[in-house]
Amino acid sequence: MTILISSRLGETRQGQAVTLRPRKSFSVAMLLLLLSGCGPVPQPAASPSAQTAAATPAASAATTDPHTMKQNNHAALSWQSKVFGQLPDGREVTLVTLKNNHGVELDVINYGGIITRLITPDATGKPGDIVLGYDNLSQYLDNNPYFGAIIGRFGNRIAKGQFAIDGKSYQLATNDGDNHLHGGVQGFDKKLWQMQPFQQADSVGVELSYLSPDGEEGYPGNLQVKVIYTLTNNNELQMQFQATTDQTTPVNLTQHSYFNLAGAGSILEHQLEIPAAQITPVGAGLIPTGELQAVAGTPFDFRTAKAIGRDIEVEDAQLKLGLGYDHNFVLKATVDDSLVLAGRVLEPTSGRVLEVWTDEPAVQFYSGNFLDGSLTGKGVQYGHRSGFCLEPQHYPDTPNQSTFPSTLLKPGETYSAQIVYRFSTKS
Ligand code: BGC
Repeated sequence: MTILISSRLGETRQGQAVTLRPRKSFSVAMLLLLLSGCGPVPQPAASPSAQTAAATPAASAATTDPHTMKQNNHAALSWQSKVFGQLPDGREVTLVTLKNNHGVELDVINYGGIITRLITPDATGKPGDIVLGYDNLSQYLDNNPYFGAIIGRFGNRIAKGQFAIDGKSYQLATNDGDNHLHGGVQGFDKKLWQMQPFQQADSVGVELSYLSPDGEEGYPGNLQVKVIYTLTNNNELQMQFQATTDQTTPVNLTQHSYFNLAGAGSILEHQLEIPAAQITPVGAGLIPTGELQAVAGTPFDFRTAKAIGRDIEVEDAQLKLGLGYDHNFVLKATVDDSLVLAGRVLEPTSGRVLEVWTDEPAVQFYSGNFLDGSLTGKGVQYGHRSGFCLEPQHYPDTPNQSTFPSTLLKPGETYSAQIVYRFSTKS
């Protein structure tokens, strides 16, 4: 498979016309999902974007300010880019804003591929930001608990940062006690990605690329990674993850947005459904024991929607270890590319609904247990359990668990994973 390398950062701001190129076709399941559409998301009353919603999406006449901003057109379906900040070594970080025709809007920066802002209308049409994040780059550099970021090479934990492939042992960086978490000290969440915006008839997006060199954080092989975020007029954010390698290496990519569908406050009243019959229970350090545990009769049974907070304080050994929910829910018995629901969340006061779909075999549900009020962003203090994550992925510590579906990527193979956030409302 060809990995497209996007143009350099500087070029993004030099007023080139947008390249409209066909995207890789999605699976049949993805197509059905797209065709089925989702519940109507009302357009924000009298907002500027609502007024321009009928404009032609593919119009390519660009209005360009070469110094600060580039934009492709004035239609609601559009992208714009601007400088977000500078890394300490002088490299520039870019922010791209994507908008669809129905008032869904998101900002993404090429540092960590972080989604810094995600606007969706509530049931009355009022727009609101539903992700946790910061106002500026220095906050992301100082202390980011993975808000909005791409996670890699390996989402979740690898015990003691160790594993062996074909008899050869590897030692990864450890950054979570003795263990390796989310790619290590300088994971993909802290890398500057190349980023290229694009527009198609019914969607806009960005293509992010990063070459992770052999030995980075202790991993073998040069890993070429591509992540495509596509915002559609069906109110979906589709994310495609792809990678190729020149040496066998574990790969387990995911997206780490923290959501609060009310915009602020506790997430304990959000109603959550996860159609999973089992979790991978953990021991000390949140490392899986290797078993599968049925959710029936436990606080982990979200097969029928319930408030996140309903059972979170129940006396339960797994909840104690996670300080709440911080567990991997099994979505599929076999690994294939069919899209399945990983979670559906309804926030009752706003009426916002988020669905997460994926072809991954599991989803980590994290109830924001380590948020403690010490971080503030976008005018909101992030208190205990004020955000939740649904991170589709393979099971944690798979490189050390022979019974878990493999996460090894070999030369000549292409890693591929999909995650879709689907936005709607319910009154
Ligand atoms: C992990 C948590 C961790 C959080 C933020 C989640 O994916 O499961 O244990 O604290 O990320 O780092």
